[in-house]
Formats: sequence, C-alpha cells, structure tokens
Amino acid sequence: MRTYAQQNPVDPPDRPTWVDAIDNPYLHGPYTPVVSEITAVDLEVVSGSIPDDLYGAYLRNGPNPVLAPRGAYHWFDGDGMVHGVYFRDGRASYLRKWIRTRALHDEIARGTVELSGVMGPYDLSAVGDGQHSVNPDYCKDTANTTLNFFNGKVLAQWYNAGRVYALDPLTLDTVGEETFGGALDTTLNAHPKVDPRNGDYLDYDYGDFKSYLTYYVAGADGKLKHQTRVDLPGPRLPHDTTFTPNYTILHDFPLYHDVEVLRRTGHRVVRFHRDQPSRFGVIPRLGTQEQIRWFEFEPGYVLHMVNAWEDGDWITMDGCFQPDPTIRRDPAEGPLAAMLAYLRYKGHLRRWRMNLRTGEAVETQLDDLNVEFCLPDTELYGVKSRYSYHQRIPTDLQTLAFDALVKYDHDTGTRVVYEYEDGWYPSEAPFARSTRGGDEDTGYVTTIATNVYDYRSEAWIFDAQRIMAGPLCRVRIPARVAPGFHASWVPGRDLWGNGAARL
Ligand SMILES: [Fe+2]
Repeated sequence: MRTYAQQNPVDPPDRPTWVDAIDNPYLHGPYTPVVSEITAVDLEVVSGSIPDDLYGAYLRNGPNPVLAPRGAYHWFDGDGMVHGVYFRDGRASYLRKWIRTRALHDEIARGTVELSGVMGPYDLSAVGDGQHSVNPDYCKDTANTTLNFFNGKVLAQWYNAGRVYALDPLTLDTVGEETFGGALDTTLNAHPKVDPRNGDYLDYDYGDFKSYLTYYVAGADGKLKHQTRVDLPGPRLPHDTTFTPNYTILHDFPLYHDVEVLRRTGHRVVRFHRDQPSRFGVIPRLGTQEQIRWFEFEPGYVLHMVNAWEDGDWITMDGCFQPDPTIRRDPAEGPLAAMLAYLRYKGHLRRWRMNLRTGEAVETQLDDLNVEFCLPDTELYGVKSRYSYHQRIPTDLQTLAFDALVKYDHDTGTRVVYEYEDGWYPSEAPFARSTRGGDEDTGYVTTIATNVYDYRSEAWIFDAQRIMAGPLCRVRIPARVAPGFHASWVPGRDLWGNGAARL
C-alpha cells in the first residue's frame, strides 16, 4: 500500500504541535490541520488568466481539528473549516474560517475535547428508544462535510447527521444554527438537496433508535413545510438522496450495524449483509410513508448519487455504486484499521431505473473506473443532465485521495480523463456555468489542490469542454489547504446579484 509519507515524510510547519504525538495518517502530510483563518485578496495567478465569465465562489468543507481528539481520531471528526475561493471580474480572493459549532465552542472554552468521534465509544446510558437523532448528545458533531446554498445562506452539515449551521456566504462567518423558521430542533443528514427550480430544501434525519428516519421539506422562504416519519427495518446509514420535480428518492442499503451491539459495546460495528437487497424508496415530494414505493436492487452501498430525473413512468438515477462495501481491516494498521478500511473505496458508475406504473427495476453498470465525488451541473439537479464530473480514486494508496478528474458524457456513453500531476492532492470539483451561457458544459470545473512535496496550494480552473488540456488557469492560495470533503459552486448572482451589481 502506497503512502504519502513516501512522497514527503516531513510534515508542514503550519501545524498544531499536538499532531506530532499522534500516529494517524489523516493528521499528517497533506492532511495536517492548519492553525489559522485567512482572508486574502487579489490572488497571484500562477499560469493562464482567470476567465471573466467565471463569477461565483468555490466553497469546500473539510476537517481541521483545533484540539487533540478524545480517543482515536477519525477523518470525519475534525472541526469543520470552510475554504472559499471567490472569482469575479477576472480576479480571485480566498477566505477560510472554522465553523463555530457547539462542540468547538465548548472545547475552546474548556481547552479539551469531551465527546468521542465516530469511532466511539459512546455513552448511551441516558439514551432511550424514543431518541431519534444519531448524534446530538453522544458523538462529536463537526459540521465538516457539505455546504449547500439555501435561502441566502450557506448551510454546513455533517456526515452522520448533525446540527445544521448557517454561514454568511460572503464572510463564511457562522450565523447560527438553522432551525427552518424555528420549526426544527434536530440533526439532519449531510447531503440535503436544494431544488434549483423552486428552492425547496429536501433532507432527512436518521438514527440508531426508532423511528429510524424522518423526511423533511423546507420551502424557498426557509420555513419547514413538510415532514413524515419513514419506518425502516432497523437503523441504517444512508448518505445521500436524489429528487425529481415530483419525487424524492430515499436509501436503504444492507450496510448497517446491530443496535444491541452498539448498546453493549458503545461502538457501531458496521456489517455488509450481502443476502439483503439495496432498496430505493420513491416518495412524493410532500408525501407520507404510506405513499413510498420501494424498489429492490443488487446488494451494495452508495455514498453519492449524480442525479435523478423523470421520463414518463420511469425514474432514472445515476450514482457511484460499491458492490462489495465489506469493511476489510488490515491488521497491520492496528487500531486505525477500521477507519482506513472504511475510507478505501471500490466502486463504479451505475444507473438505476424504476417504473412507477409497473414496478419494474433495472440497473446497469455504466463504467468500470473507480470514481466517486460525482457532480453534474447542480443547476440541473432533478432533471436530465448530460454531463457529470467525478474524481478517480486510487486503490493502492493508504488514504483517500483523487488521482484524476473524469468527465462523463451520458448521451454518448463516453468519458475523458485528466490525470493530475504527481504529488497533487485535489478536492472535489464542481461545475460552474459561464455567465455567457451556452451548452450544458459551457463553463468551468474548479478545485483546490495541495502539493505534497512542498505543500503549496493552488486553485485550478478547467475549461469544462476541455478538461484533457489540464487547468487553463492556476491561482496561488497563499497558505496550505488540507484535503477535505465536499465542495459546492455558488453562482455569483446568489452572492452579489446579476451583472449590473458587479464592480
Ligand atoms: Fe458525502
């Protein structure tokens, strides 16, 4: 198994001293946490020039722990830090800030970390069967996973269902916890979807104890307008969702834990039940659980979907499927073996089709590349999209990283691959429409990347129609950026208004 330490065994100087005492690959090398917030304007252009029709912000969330963890550190446990690269008028600026979560606030006040992370152990002594949410009291909730623009705010959310934190989109300051008009005091799954056509926000909460899932819809005005309980056979670990104009598609995969083992040991011991199907539940946008239609498919697991759309009686959905998500621990990796195994991905692009009239379920493997972190033009969420942009994940590296940008053309069934230069650790790469308009792929793909040999970081801008040519522009980020989780593109009209408001 390759490690980044073979590329550079020396950690960067801008790190908290406590990491030196902890042997964990997600605290060293390119993953080393940084120690400061930054505001930088007029970034230096390393090569090319920033297109003047690139108007908006690349925002990326990720873990950046402030204090030494309690117990074993999982990459999902680091305090959320948001990196923003703002593009406007051919210039770029950079901001990074921690998300002021309850956990971070308490830890800074106390000077220590009190709650365990996702590897536990948890103290469940005070938890009854009535408690729904997965994490609010017994697992550290870091808001470090996703960022979604909704109702004038950027919402930061956490992997395993956490509190929703609202950020100012221009300053990245934490405004407070999002309660959707005071209606919701709960955790929500990290991957909500915002319908670009009517502004609805779709998400769900899930938990270790009954009931296992509750589905929510908030309107474009920011207020909760619908909720319904969804009974599942037991606790599940859904990660994403998709929607169409009329339906939301919920997940029930046979990768889950036994709640009695959790109660007895304080750990979620996750197993793949290969004798049970994957299930997708199609629920009307504002429907109840009695209206859900469940469709069964090959057993496996999905972290992220690309998109879904309606076509007559059919719903078509593309995503990155793992046919064998068994967590294979390497004993040589000691107490971190489970985390390292969980973060090793083997999967491919797949299409599922569900017929709402006949109940027919059809699935097709579309490719064999090991791709994930898949995004269409998110302004086409819910309707048919032709292109999607993915990261290829090497299977021989100890840590999760990306080694190529892959663009799929779903109309022709073809793809192009741009292999990143040796030593670079890029982030998820969303698509940004050109302000000039044009075809579906007229625009740019943006990312932030860090070089493991010298720890310099850059923002890269690809022409989405020519990703094979490599970045058309590279912009220097004046500090190191550790790899992280999900990125979003926020169009400039949502930040600064339409062209007339531009400086
Ligand atoms: Fe995710």
